Amino acid sequence: MDTEKSAIFIIFGGSGDLAHRKLYPSLFRLYKTGLLKDHFAVIGTARRPWSDDYFRGTVITSLEESFDDDKKIMEEFAKHFFYQSHDVNDSEHYIALKNLAAKLDDQFEAGHNRVYYMAIAPRFFGTVAEHLNSEGLKTKDGYNRLVIEKPFGRDLDSACELNGNISKAFPEDDIYRIDHYLGKEMIQDIPNIRANNPKFEAALNNKYVSNIQVTLAESLGVEDRGGYYETAGVLRDMVQNHIMQIIGSIASDDPEAKDAGVIHKNKCDLFASLKNLTPEEVDKNFVRGQYDTDELGDEKAYRQEDKVAEDSQIETFTAGKVEFNSKRWSGVPFYVRSGKRMPNKASRIDIVFNEKVSELGIKPNTVLTLLIERTNDHSILINGIDYKESGQDFIKFPEEPEFTKACEAYESLIIDILSGNRVHFTLWDELRSTWKYIDSIRERWDSQKADFPNYISGTMGPDSAEMLLERDGNSWIWD
Ligand code: BG6
Repeated sequence: MDTEKSAIFIIFGGSGDLAHRKLYPSLFRLYKTGLLKDHFAVIGTARRPWSDDYFRGTVITSLEESFDDDKKIMEEFAKHFFYQSHDVNDSEHYIALKNLAAKLDDQFEAGHNRVYYMAIAPRFFGTVAEHLNSEGLKTKDGYNRLVIEKPFGRDLDSACELNGNISKAFPEDDIYRIDHYLGKEMIQDIPNIRANNPKFEAALNNKYVSNIQVTLAESLGVEDRGGYYETAGVLRDMVQNHIMQIIGSIASDDPEAKDAGVIHKNKCDLFASLKNLTPEEVDKNFVRGQYDTDELGDEKAYRQEDKVAEDSQIETFTAGKVEFNSKRWSGVPFYVRSGKRMPNKASRIDIVFNEKVSELGIKPNTVLTLLIERTNDHSILINGIDYKESGQDFIKFPEEPEFTKACEAYESLIIDILSGNRVHFTLWDELRSTWKYIDSIRERWDSQKADFPNYISGTMGPDSAEMLLERDGNSWIWD
C-alpha cells in the first residue's frame, strides 16, 4: 500500500446519495488501509443546516450498512468530518468554506492539498468551479484537484459549455472526470492482459476478429431516478460514457504504454476514428426499446415510474453497431447493448474471433469473454468456460491475478486522485468525439416517434436487437 496521503476534501453534495453510498464507504476503506490516517479532513456541504455531529452520525450510519467494524473505529474516522451549510450561488459561503478548509489544514497538517468533489446536480458544476476560483479557494502551495461526476453535459453543445466554464477555473490537468467503469478491476486489467499475452494482442485486429460485443445489462428498472432518467435515456446514461470507455480499453493501440498522455492520445485517436452515422444509418444500425410491465403485470412499466411522463419517448434499452475507420478496426462491428429490466445483471465483453485466428495458434472461431461483473468467481472465459480449463493458452498470467474485488471502483479512483494519476479518468477530447457520435443518434431518434413500450420487463429487449446481428450473420454471445 502507498504511503499516507494528506488532503482536505470538500464534497459538494455531502448529504446526498452518492456521497453516502459510494464516497464515505470508500474513504473509510482507505482509512482502514492507512492511506488516509491523520492528515485528512472531509468537509461536507449542502443546503440543509446540519451540525458536525449530525453529519458525522449520517456518515456512521452509511458505514454501518456496508461494514461490521467496531463502532469505535468508525467514530475515530468520523472525527475527520465537518459540515458546512452552503448555497452554491452565494460568494460569502465560499469565503466561509475557504476559512474552514484553511483552519482544518492547520489542524490536520493536510499539506495545503484540496480535492473539490462535485457530487451535486450537474447544472451546478460550472457555478461551483467558477466560484472556487474567483473566491480564492485554491491554495498556492499544494494541489487543487476538481472531481466531476457524470453526466458531463447532455449533448455536445452543453458539454462544450460546461467544459468552457470549468476550464476557465481549472487547468485540464487538475480536472478528474469520473467514469466509474474506469475504476473497475477488469477494465483496469485489460491493458495488462493485452500486454502480457502477445498472441492475444496480435489477434486483436480486423484480420482475426469477427466482431466484439459489449453488454451492460441490468435487471433493475430506473427505481427512484425517473426524474433524471427522463433527461437522459440509456444512450446518454450508459453508451456515451461507460460503453465507449470499455471499447477504448480493448481497442486502442499500444496497451504497453504507461504514460497517461500516450494512453489518452491513443484513446482519443480511436474515438476520432468513429464512423459517423447518417440518419438512415442510425435507423439501420441502432435500435431502441422501453420496458413494459412483466409477464404477470407485477412490475411497473417505465411509463408508470415516478416522475416519468405517461407518453415518455425515453429509451431504457438500446443495441447498436459501432464501427471505426481505423486501419486496425475498419470492417469489425462492435455490437453494443445496454438496458434496464433485462433478465440479469451482466457487464461483459465478448470478443469473437474468426477462422483465420488459427494462424496464431488460437482455435478457429474462439470466443473470449471478459467479465466486468464477475459471475460464480469467473473473470475470463474461453468459449464459455473458465480460461484455465479451456485447453487454450493464449491467455496466461505471469502471476495468477487475484480478481478479488479487493478494491471497489470508487476506492481505486480516489487513490488515483490523491496520487495525481489521471489514467483512469476521461479527457475532454475523448468526450467531444463520443458526444458528437451520440448526438447523431439522439437527433435522429428525437425526430421520430417510437412505438413504446416495446419489451417486457425481464426479457432481452425488443426483437430488433436480435435482428441487428442476424442481418450480419452474427448472434449475441450472451443471450
Ligand atoms: C450509472 C448509471 O452510471 O451506472 C446507472 O447512471 C446505472 O443508471 C449504473 O445503473 C450501473 O453501474 P454498475 O457499476 O452497477 O454496473
